[in-house]
Amino acid sequence: MKKTIEIPYEEFSSLTELSQQEQDLLATATEAAKNSYSPYSKFHVGAALLLENDEIITGNNQENAAYPTGLCAERVAFFYSGAKFPNVPIKTVAITAYSEEISVNSPVPPCGDCRQAMIEYEERYDKKIRVIMRGASGKIIVFNQVSDLLPFHFDNSDLGM
Ligand code: THU
Repeated sequence: MKKTIEIPYEEFSSLTELSQQEQDLLATATEAAKNSYSPYSKFHVGAALLLENDEIITGNNQENAAYPTGLCAERVAFFYSGAKFPNVPIKTVAITAYSEEISVNSPVPPCGDCRQAMIEYEERYDKKIRVIMRGASGKIIVFNQVSDLLPFHFDNSDLGM
């Protein structure tokens, strides 16, 4: 039997189509990207999380001379949120990036490892996390939940939990 998955998402051509709170979250992610440590890729990524207690947590990519040792902005932010507010669900993540070398004018999608890491928080708190992505300019795309970005992901149900 052939089956198909449809993944819903929204696309906006202008920032002003987002709520003020979401515009502010993207602006906070842009600020966070400026503190990225990315001397190797020169690609500065920022992530900003809005938590259910209205706290904002930010992260940015932290690179390393031993390349795989570095970490993406999203995981820096999510792990920090788990470390600082271990029982507070995450409502929204905004992700953006700019580069010293290329123009980033399409939305910046989280890598596969970050998707897997973010889903853990969605399931841990049993709360969908809205994902807002934008480049340094251009359109914005929004997903209702991280798991829409990673169909057939591995999770604790696969461990019999
Ligand atoms: N990067 C992120 O921080 N988040 C993403 O979603 C994609 C990639 C970082 C990793 C590396 O420091 C640089 O961007 C280039 O891959």
